Amino acid sequence: MDVHEALYTTRMMRRLHRDPISLETQARILDAAIRAPSGANTQRWHFLAVDDPATKAGLATIYRHCRDRLYADIEAGLLAKPVSDPEAHAETMRRVTASGDYFTDHFAEIPLLLFVFAIDDHGGANIYPAIWSTLLAARAEGVGGTITTMLRYEEDRVMQLLEVPTEAGWRMTAMLALGYPRGRWGVAANRRPVHEVSSRNRWGRDFGVTVPAPLWPNGSPGPAAQHDTNVSRPATG
Ligand SMILES: Cc1cc2nc3c(=O)[nH]c(=O)nc-3n(C[C@H](O)[C@H](O)[C@H](O)COP(=O)(O)O)c2cc1C
Repeated sequence: MDVHEALYTTRMMRRLHRDPISLETQARILDAAIRAPSGANTQRWHFLAVDDPATKAGLATIYRHCRDRLYADIEAGLLAKPVSDPEAHAETMRRVTASGDYFTDHFAEIPLLLFVFAIDDHGGANIYPAIWSTLLAARAEGVGGTITTMLRYEEDRVMQLLEVPTEAGWRMTAMLALGYPRGRWGVAANRRPVHEVSSRNRWGRDFGVTVPAPLWPNGSPGPAAQHDTNVSRPATG
């Protein structure tokens, strides 16, 4: 698969078929993911694949409980606010809430729960390259899913259930829910454009090029791009 297609279309897929992911496919995904960098190449990561139905059912109960706690936090106004455009964010939240409800109701049917653990993950920096590579490698296999951190509300329960050696310093960073998606892949267009989230030389100064619409598969930068020879369009595959 073209690398730009993977980058542009790896959405969070919460509606998944029950079909299992073969061990060969899982091996290809993780073998690609562990090529990711970590500080000083310490590789203090561990990937725990859960496909046992009884364990998934236990985790489904915990996930629902965590989600109730998230809703309580939202109600109490404790969650981070978007940087701008609250209306667009509210629309995203409506979509995420609907698919999140589906995800919670069908949690036990998700074919593969991939828990990612790390020791001293450096604020996530040491482990998110491997997490995102996992999702990209899965995308290349036609496997979709979503990153979740919800279970961290009840991390102790999860650690106990999965017999994680916490005394050695292992902490749960995320859980990736993986399976073959029911929906279709599409460009993640609900993102603030490059020129709104970037600046040049000083915070807040014009970035020098506008990107009014996604550049893949066949967009082009806006007018200011004429003055910037460093801009190149991603190749299409
Ligand atoms: C660090 C992190 C934690 C997340 N945790 C959850 C989660 O617990 N549950 C969930 O359904 N989605 C979770 N997500 C997925 C986000 O909601 C999702 O990336 C966002 O809505 C954009 O989705 P899209 O790529 O399909 O547009 C998480 C994403 C990240 C990066």
